[in-house]
Amino acid sequence: MAPLRLVRQIAELVTSNSCMVVLVSLVLLSWRSGATALANCPAGCSCNDDTLVVVCEESRLDVLPIALNPSIQRLIIRNNKIKTIDSSMQFYAELQHLDLSHNHLVNIPTNSFAYQRKLQELHLNNNKISSITNTTFRGLNSLTVLNVKRNYLEELNNGVFTTLPRLEELNLGQNSISRIEPRAFAGLTALRILYLDDNQLSSVPTPSFSLLGSLAELHVGLNAFSSLPDDAFAGLNRLTVLDLNGAGLSNISENAFRGLPGLRSLNLLGNRLNVVPTQQLSGLTRLEELYIGQNDFVELESHSFKGLKNLKLLDITGATLLERVQKGAFEDNVNLETVIIANNKKLSVIDDCTLLGLPKLKHVSLRDNAIVTLSETVFIGKELRQLDLNDNPIVCDCHMRWLQELLNDKSNFTQIQCASPDN
Ligand SMILES: *[C@@H]1O[C@H](CO)[C@@H](O)[C@H](O)[C@H]1NC(C)=O
Ligand SMILES: *[C@@H]1O[C@H](CO)[C@@H](O)[C@H](O)[C@H]1NC(C)=O
Ligand SMILES: *[C@@H]1O[C@H](CO)[C@@H](O)[C@H](O)[C@H]1NC(C)=O
Repeated sequence: MAPLRLVRQIAELVTSNSCMVVLVSLVLLSWRSGATALANCPAGCSCNDDTLVVVCEESRLDVLPIALNPSIQRLIIRNNKIKTIDSSMQFYAELQHLDLSHNHLVNIPTNSFAYQRKLQELHLNNNKISSITNTTFRGLNSLTVLNVKRNYLEELNNGVFTTLPRLEELNLGQNSISRIEPRAFAGLTALRILYLDDNQLSSVPTPSFSLLGSLAELHVGLNAFSSLPDDAFAGLNRLTVLDLNGAGLSNISENAFRGLPGLRSLNLLGNRLNVVPTQQLSGLTRLEELYIGQNDFVELESHSFKGLKNLKLLDITGATLLERVQKGAFEDNVNLETVIIANNKKLSVIDDCTLLGLPKLKHVSLRDNAIVTLSETVFIGKELRQLDLNDNPIVCDCHMRWLQELLNDKSNFTQIQCASPDN
């Protein structure tokens, strides 16, 4: 530590905040007496002067500790009762990691982090923060991770993050955000991962995305979009993962996914789609993973996933209205390795030859559907390693003898339970 600078900082603090005089005097006394480490560690905290880590978990602190070693690099004050960030924060200019999650923070005063030029991670999740402005994060030039998940934010104004040029991951999930201004994400040129899930957005904030040219992952599910217009994600040229789980979608416009040339993983689980959006998906030629269960379609028609020639994993779980998978449903998806069609309570018909001609197919789960019988020609494929038919009301008559033979051959295949006959 640099005692001179510290004393100067303390002097500044004393003039700016007279109620701290007593505390500060105590701090100075304890330093003078040479009893630094022990004397300055608040009850309930553990302070390590070698690793420069201070951890105060569930220590019932209601203000930031003022007398810690000013050289600390990691400060963890999770699960306390801190209500605000006061000027004692300025003593800790060497911090790289600060965790104030699960406290009672209501607002963050202007310039709270002006001295934290080295801070890389800031965790403010699970507080009661209701607003942030373009001064809130001033000074955090090195910050790479900012977590504001589960607070009370309602809107994001233009320029709120402009002071964070190095930010790579931003979590704004589980807030009450209903409005995002077009330049809200200005300056986030390094951002790779953005969580906006579980907010109150009624439409996709498309204009604000155009400033996020480096974004690789976008989590924007659990909002109330109802429909996706054309070019909803325009500008996100580098996006590889798009999570629209539970986004309230009943309608996807034909060119909604235009401009996402590198998309590899798309999650459409838990929406209200009453048909598979075949045409809308067909331009996603690099797509490798698609999750589309818990929607309202009744059938998978042939060529349902046309154009998706790189698809490796398809997951259709919990589609409560799905009754039938037609022959040729996956005919265009010759690179499929894993097919999960599970927990579809009404699904009783999988047409003959449905999974035929998929040379790379390794894992198939048809668990917990309403399948009574299956023809051998549904599968066939030398690569098949795993087949799960559990929890179906299968009738094990001679039509199913092929399965018995398959089970004898391949030890990894799960057993099936027959609904009937008894023997
Ligand atoms: C911060 O926002 C205010 C409006 O809320 C604006 O007047 C000011 O110019 C902004 N400052 C910067 C540096 O962008
Ligand atoms: C879906 O949206 C398109 C326009 O975006 C509209 O033409 C069509 O009627 C809508 N369909 C439904 C079922 O709402
Ligand atoms: C069984 O599973 C193991 C590990 O998952 C795998 O290494 C092995 O090749 C499989 N055996 C067969 C016969 O597929």
